[in-house]
Amino acid sequence: MMKIKLPQQETENSISLESAFRKRETKREYLDTPISLTKLSQILFAAQGRRGNDNKLTAPSAQGQYPISTYIVVNKVSGLTPGLYQFDNSDHSLVEMKTGLISEQLEEAALGEQAWVGNAAAIVVLAGNIQSMNQHFSEQPPLNKRGERYNYIEVGAIVQNMQLQGTALDIGMVLVGGFNNDKVKTILSLPTELEPSALVCMGNI
Ligand SMILES: Cc1cc2nc3c(=O)[nH]c(=O)nc-3n(C[C@H](O)[C@H](O)[C@H](O)COP(=O)(O)O)c2cc1C
Repeated sequence: MMKIKLPQQETENSISLESAFRKRETKREYLDTPISLTKLSQILFAAQGRRGNDNKLTAPSAQGQYPISTYIVVNKVSGLTPGLYQFDNSDHSLVEMKTGLISEQLEEAALGEQAWVGNAAAIVVLAGNIQSMNQHFSEQPPLNKRGERYNYIEVGAIVQNMQLQGTALDIGMVLVGGFNNDKVKTILSLPTELEPSALVCMGNI
């Protein structure tokens, strides 16, 4: 299993959070250029990075269950072979899962015509262990639904972090929530317990 250490993330950036809120918008058209590994690193930190020496991440999680696994479909990222990677936040690295052009297959899993899935330089796939969340929160009504709700609430918080970070770095993004779950699972060979919950397509703008 090949591990790729990601560049050290920045702790400061020139754009204020307030101006990022004003600038943030969905971008579905990207330049045909690779995004830098440094920018991808920063966006993954915003998504699910470990913020310090405790176990806490950059996004909240219901009872600290951390149900989300973060995968990256790489199309054009400088220094990376196109393929599928998993983000390991324990040492801020990528684990290579398989190589090949996967984004074109993913486009076919999207609901309706979504060319930006095929054209994106990278797609972050957030996949949640909904089964374990439903189990963990089985004392909380509605039965077998509360855990799933928490999963998707967490995905929302993660994607907002990513999009604000993307805005600061001039990386355009679209949150794609409309896709065929089974197809995405098959294309990425995800473990059965993981449910793809959001695709975040990105590229230079
Ligand atoms: C839950 C959710 C699902 C979405 N799914 C898609 C999608 O499948 N395809 C797409 O192109 N945009 C999708 N979007 C992006 C919205 O279309 C976009 O946020 C909306 O048009 C508002 O534009 P703005 O983000 O620029 O403010 C989704 C957004 C959310 C919050």
